[in-house]
Amino acid sequence: MLIDGINYRTIWFSEDGNTVEIIDQTRLPHTLVILRLQTSAQMVRAIQEMNVRGAPLIGAAAACGMVLAMQEATDDASMELAAQVLCASRPTAVNLRWAVERMLAALRPLSPELRPAAARSLAQVICDEDVALNRQIGRHGLALLRSHYEKVGRPLNILTHCNAGWLATVDWGTALAPIYAAFDAGIPLHVWVDETRPRNQGAALTAWELGKHGVPHTVIADNAGGHLMQHGQVDVVIVGADRVTSSGDVCNKIGTYLKALAAHDNHVPFYAAVPSPTIDWRIADGLREIPIEERGADEVAWVHGRTKDGELLSVHVLPEGSPAANPAFDVTPARLVTGIITEHGVSRPDQLRRIFP
Ligand code: MRU
Repeated sequence: MLIDGINYRTIWFSEDGNTVEIIDQTRLPHTLVILRLQTSAQMVRAIQEMNVRGAPLIGAAAACGMVLAMQEATDDASMELAAQVLCASRPTAVNLRWAVERMLAALRPLSPELRPAAARSLAQVICDEDVALNRQIGRHGLALLRSHYEKVGRPLNILTHCNAGWLATVDWGTALAPIYAAFDAGIPLHVWVDETRPRNQGAALTAWELGKHGVPHTVIADNAGGHLMQHGQVDVVIVGADRVTSSGDVCNKIGTYLKALAAHDNHVPFYAAVPSPTIDWRIADGLREIPIEERGADEVAWVHGRTKDGELLSVHVLPEGSPAANPAFDVTPARLVTGIITEHGVSRPDQLRRIFP
């Protein structure tokens, strides 16, 4: 997508192919910084520290991490170890495991000297495929948003949580792909952006990328969504997902479940936009089977921002000695989900297998 007239993806290989470059998402919205990663350990750290984040992007980053690992050592034991370490870097988004397993399946049968080049070309395929899947999600989501717009007959109010835009993917985004497609097609719309404490991916990232594209939006406190729905100010909710079970349970950023409950109570359609690598066909019960990442208490205790003078600052917002807990994701049961927008079309959550035979 465009940043001030220049086309960017979130991740790419340097021209010599030996370095992976990423947009550092911990520095947005205040500064655009590109990080250059040369080792698989640096990639693991970038995933853990959330310089790259968002389920599809984490998958692409892990594939690129395997390329860096193959530049370091190509024997079986080193390759398996690098894969294990990458897989363990974040637990919830299934795209990470999906990408590493796909890389391993291609690399294992090859002799060690063939592995670096093969890893490089498959990682590029995984990145390019992500863009293509998201474009398809945008296409199907556009038809859906058009039908909602025709029903309401005034600018459509869409609420989204966290960041499932192009920054969460290689390009285009998942939940925001239909919004970009509808905006580009001239459908009048406005997006309510949940700030998404504790890391504020909505306020920092979603608002930034919507603004760069010119999409009308308003950032709201996480607790405002229910009130807006009760007053008819939300027509549709669209979120992304970090993992969806075969039965359609949707695991996404903490707070998504509360939005789904409010949407259900107010008869507001609630959609998750999900490319197929986010579907975990091995599990059916999201509440029991999806590992929920527990992140550091500091993310709750400290808030980062910019002062009026432009200085970047971190401040502590808890009383001295108060502990904090930080579960990073929650699971919205399929019964609260109106539909799942995939690259194959829109499905009822409990009928995903019909569109992915
Ligand atoms: O912790 P993050 O920022 O990696 O989590 C990302 C999310 O939960 C997003 O909401 C998203 O929907 C999944 S990625 C498209």
